[in-house]
Amino acid sequence: MKDYRPGYHYRSKENWINDPCGLIGHHGVYHLYHQYNPHGDKWGDMHWGHATSTDMVNWKQQDIALKPDVLNKEDHCFTGCGFHLPDGRPVFYYTSISDQRDPEQWIAYPQDDTLNSLVQTQMHRMTYDMHKQLTGITEWRDPSVIPYKDGYLMVLGCRLNSRGTCLLYTSEDGLHFTYHSVLASADGSEDHSWECPNIMRIGEKYVLIYSPYRQPLYIIGTMTDDLRFIPEAKGIVDESGHEGYYAPQSFRDKQGRQLIMGWMPERSRGDWDGIRGWAGCMSLPKEVYLEDGIFKMRVIHEVEKLVSSTERGELPLLQCAVGDQYRLVVDGKIETDGCIKVDLLSTSDGSEKTVVKLHGNGRLVLDRSMSSKHPTHRSLQERRVSLPKNHVAMEIYVDHSVVEICVNGEWISSRVYPSMENAVYLQVGMQNAKGSYEISQMNDCEK
Ligand code: FRU
Repeated sequence: MKDYRPGYHYRSKENWINDPCGLIGHHGVYHLYHQYNPHGDKWGDMHWGHATSTDMVNWKQQDIALKPDVLNKEDHCFTGCGFHLPDGRPVFYYTSISDQRDPEQWIAYPQDDTLNSLVQTQMHRMTYDMHKQLTGITEWRDPSVIPYKDGYLMVLGCRLNSRGTCLLYTSEDGLHFTYHSVLASADGSEDHSWECPNIMRIGEKYVLIYSPYRQPLYIIGTMTDDLRFIPEAKGIVDESGHEGYYAPQSFRDKQGRQLIMGWMPERSRGDWDGIRGWAGCMSLPKEVYLEDGIFKMRVIHEVEKLVSSTERGELPLLQCAVGDQYRLVVDGKIETDGCIKVDLLSTSDGSEKTVVKLHGNGRLVLDRSMSSKHPTHRSLQERRVSLPKNHVAMEIYVDHSVVEICVNGEWISSRVYPSMENAVYLQVGMQNAKGSYEISQMNDCEK
């Protein structure tokens, strides 16, 4: 029986997980919380699962951190964030869901510095009626907070009169937030609701990311003194959306890095229900940076710790067996009419394979049409990537059912479920391109 469980991506030992929540560093420990259903491998009864790490790569799964306050008619603890108050105390804001009222934003306090147990309070609840001037808000959720000047900014996602929208709030003390304005909203009619907005400052710019039920998107801009966000560039955080990368959350760590993790869902399993007992994992931890006005991400250097061995050579790479837990790095040049083609998780006869193609005009394609004989999703994923000076820095992380592909900092992360035991071959071909490769076997991370 094939094992589809990722080895070096964080996942819960069992049950359903989604969105990363409350990412925070505290007293030298990174905390990853996430949406978690303790009762099974389908979405429902949302709690916050919890894991801790000193390097964002090896994790220790902890007990459930936050559970619905049923006495106060709370049914679910939805996505939220963690941050430090001016006195250094960590605090968490999240969306409280009840069948008997509209969504509200609630605070949860850790019981001690382990941050293992978060307990919600009825103080400082944020409710719909705080928006005196605004009508027509629904699906209001997923608070995210950053320090700003002497206080804090919070963003929340919603549907505002049928348009995906990000609302902005301000606070001096990190506990009382007041509504400020609409920070940004969907320009067309396509995105009806925005989930999981995050705002971050990178250099002189502000960057908003959000998940509009499809690929997570970004807007880079500047912030005026009266807190108007002036967009300058827009694009895709990761092409996959529900097929492999959704609801990313970002935070700044102690070293000043803007780190980011996304949820890698299982929607790509499609009608195939051959996997039981677990669903979802986290992407590799990455660092956000801006280059030539484009939002980019690089895997953090700590991931290097998981490398067990590396082989190097010049391209092309003839078919060889490499297994299903490795990293491929390609460093090369490509002509405008050139192509680099990677067949991975392939059988020796190629009857099952996942194909990545990078065209010299910047088209990056992930072809899953032959990824599995199971009735899993086969849709093609495709995006534009920048190829400054025809240079290609490609990284592909393969981890059983996970494939994360990066070219020059731009990503397609997806899920595939090969059916054949011997879908372990790799091959890299090319036309009007040249370069070298590195194949690194990856150890499991602790989890
Ligand atoms: C995004 C999302 C959030 C919500 C959570 C519920 O995947 O829908 O908007 O808070 O998941 O689990």
